[in-house]
Formats: sequence, structure tokens, C-alpha cells
Amino acid sequence: MSAITIREARREDIPSIVETCQDSTTNEELIGFSTPEWGTFRDIKKLRNIWTTGNRLKDDYEVIVSEKGGQIVGFLVFKIEEEHLYIDQVNIRHSEQGAGVGRAFVEYVERLAAKSGPIRIETDTTENADGVPWKSYGFWIRMGFKDTGQRLKTKWSFKTIPLVKWIN
Ligand SMILES: CC(C)(COP(=O)(O)OP(=O)(O)OC[C@H]1O[C@@H](n2cnc3c(N)ncnc32)[C@H](O)[C@@H]1OP(=O)(O)O)[C@@H](O)C(=O)NCCC(=O)NCCS
Repeated sequence: MSAITIREARREDIPSIVETCQDSTTNEELIGFSTPEWGTFRDIKKLRNIWTTGNRLKDDYEVIVSEKGGQIVGFLVFKIEEEHLYIDQVNIRHSEQGAGVGRAFVEYVERLAAKSGPIRIETDTTENADGVPWKSYGFWIRMGFKDTGQRLKTKWSFKTIPLVKWIN
């Protein structure tokens, strides 16, 4: 079994990142929980347009990837703010889900936050019009994130669920 390594992404990783994103969730699954407008990571052209230098995207978002046997199996997008680190999204290849890659990513950004100054990590997920949370909700709770109880309206039928984890 190959070990998982995590590193900063590079511009040339864009095709593998997009493939990973498309592989992680089907378009059908996303109906009612997301919108094609958020599909930047499912489109090579769109992702190239917002990629700036190194592992950075516009607005100072950063991308890290996980590799197994030299292949990208997951990626995570985050941004370091003054008092918190925001996880924008994390996606793992379907065949690699449930094998600890998501946990390794969360632990990696926790160490990064602790080193860089932020004292909490924030992320969010969504719930559909019936109040059913997106399937990653249980993962975030398992990783120690707390549901803030807020349900923020969007211009679509789904609501945003902010999640937060305080780090020591
Ligand atoms: C959600 C996701 C990132 C989790 O990553 P993963 O590598 O599959 O998760 P891990 O194997 O590291 O799981 C870590 C722990 O969370 C638990 N867990 C994982 N997914 C879970 C879920 N959907 N519900 C409840 N618990 C879950 C695991 O059982 C594991 O617990 P343990 O370590 O105590 O045994 C991944 O499954 C994924 O990419 N899903 C599709 C895209 C998505 O929803 N992304 C998140 C929104 S941006």
C-alpha cells in the first residue's frame, strides 16, 4: 500500500485536480446542494483563470494536494485570515474515500494554522430545501467541527451551514 503525501499544488496539477473533483462527486449528487456557478474546480479553463503563482489562486486562496504512488488523489483549498483559517473545499477521488486522506488534510491545515497564527478553523457545507445536509456534514463533525446552528440563506434553494473548530 502506497503512503499518502501532502504537498503544495502547482499550476501543472490543474488537470489532475479537475479530474479528482469530477471523480469525487457526480453532478446528479450535487443537485439541490450546490450550483454550477461554484464549479470552478470542475473546469480546467476556469481554474487556470484564477490560478496566480505557486499554489495560489486569486484572493489568496491556496491549494494543497495529496498524492499516492505519484498520483493526485485529493485536494484541499484554504485561505489564511488573521484569526482563522478557512477551508473552502476538500475533495477526494471516489475510490480513495474512507481511507484517511480527508483526515490527513484536516490535520495538515491544523498544523499550518497553529504555526501561522489563526486560532480557529472555519468551513461550511450546505443543506437542501428539505433540511438534509450534504454528505460531508458527518465528516466535519467527526473531525471535531461544531455546527454553529446557523442556516444561512443563499439565492438558491439550499442553505449554508457554517462549521467551526477551535485549535489549541
Ligand atoms: C468528505 C470527504 C472529503 C472525506 O474524506 P475521506 O478521505 O473520505 O475521509 P476519511 O477517510 O479521512 O475519514 C475521516 C473520518 O471521518 C469519517 N467520515 C468520513 N466521511 C464521513 C461521512 N460522510 N459521514 C460521517 N463520517 C464520515 C470516517 O469514518 C473517519 O472516521 P475515523 O477516522 O474515526 O474512522 C471525501 O469523502 C469526499 O471528497 N467526498 C466528496 C466531496 C465532498 O463532499 N467534499 C466536501 C465538501 S467540499
